[in-house]
Amino acid sequence: MANILIGVSGGIACYKIPTLCRLFKKEGHDVKVILTENASKFVTPLTFESVTGNRAYTGEFDPGLDPEIIEHIDLAGWADKFVIAPATANLTAKAACGIADNLLTSTLLVYTKPVIFVPAMNTNMFNHPATQENLKTLEKRGHIIIEPDSGELACGTSGKGRMKEPEELFRLIEGERPLAGLRVLVTAGATVEPIDPVRYISNYSSGKMGLAVASKARELGAEVKVIAGSISADCSEFDTVYVKSAEDMLNAVREHVGSCDILIKAAAVADYAPVEAAVQKIKKNDGELVIRLKKNPDILKEIAPLKKHSQVFCGFAAESENLNKNAIRKLNEKKLDMIVANDISRKDIGFGSDDNEAEIFFADGSSEHFSKGSKKLLAEMILIRAAGLLK
Ligand code: CTP
Repeated sequence: MANILIGVSGGIACYKIPTLCRLFKKEGHDVKVILTENASKFVTPLTFESVTGNRAYTGEFDPGLDPEIIEHIDLAGWADKFVIAPATANLTAKAACGIADNLLTSTLLVYTKPVIFVPAMNTNMFNHPATQENLKTLEKRGHIIIEPDSGELACGTSGKGRMKEPEELFRLIEGERPLAGLRVLVTAGATVEPIDPVRYISNYSSGKMGLAVASKARELGAEVKVIAGSISADCSEFDTVYVKSAEDMLNAVREHVGSCDILIKAAAVADYAPVEAAVQKIKKNDGELVIRLKKNPDILKEIAPLKKHSQVFCGFAAESENLNKNAIRKLNEKKLDMIVANDISRKDIGFGSDDNEAEIFFADGSSEHFSKGSKKLLAEMILIRAAGLLK
């Protein structure tokens, strides 16, 4: 059983932490809590002492402590896992800068393993570039961020920033990193086929689904590489290869597919491209303009012969009619292990939306329905199923 150290900083989500402590205790772990001064105004140290059976640590220089023990060194050495929940904007900023002005932040500097940060705050604070950069800094240093959910917030507003419920946090922290040691290659966004130096053919794909897969794969412990076409979201936090056309994407996939365990092909690839991109800008005239198109390579079909038995390939099917029939045909023609089909005629899901609803078809003829929910939740289902298919 593990020694779990929970650092609690001062936000309303503090009230969820005693329940989290109890869940760890029930599992047989030893739990210690460090509270910042503000955190102890939300929930008293006594509450934490009652649920953990250990002293709740508040200050580095409290009188009456064992002078033999240097608390921040001792606690950092004791902890097998170090979780900061809730991680306020202030605590996150201090951690990113390496400020050590209280017991919790000092212990963070001593601790050498990855820390799990659970940010929870007002949406604007969470979205602020400073907070986002701080979180990225922590992530780049190898720490794990458990993203907040969207919903009603204590401040009366609604948006991203709400801490996950203790049961879900427990599940995520409890080493449920089922993709640890696996390499996931994700293609995301739309390909862009040039007509001339200023115009192109593309499609409405935002890349959100692909990035949801990338971010969930990393959360579940995988090593992630992204091949991104035109994408509206920022993917700088991932190891990303940027491409433009279907031809470029094919080359990039060919280069990297050999070193992945799971390929998730979420990109919306343009099926046709201009026969030749004009070197100069095409000038308008009074007549019609005819652009001749050639068929692009089907990336999944092209790479199917490269697939090893140990790999799992998953495609997507964007359908506006006959969803099941078309998806199953694509699954077979592209020699996939699974395909995620969604109805693009619906306005509330799919392109550009944060939500999706899908039917997942498997090569063994079975299928599974994903009821409308966030792309991140769908991503989790896809990845868990894909990992389950690995030989
Ligand atoms: N795909 C691909 N190469 C293409 C077109 C699509 O690899 N040239 C992949 C997509 O990334 C997706 C799957 O194939 O994983 C299905 O894409 P979709 O656009 O739904 O189907 P298409 O095969 O293009 O067929 P159609 O456009 O006729 O529906």
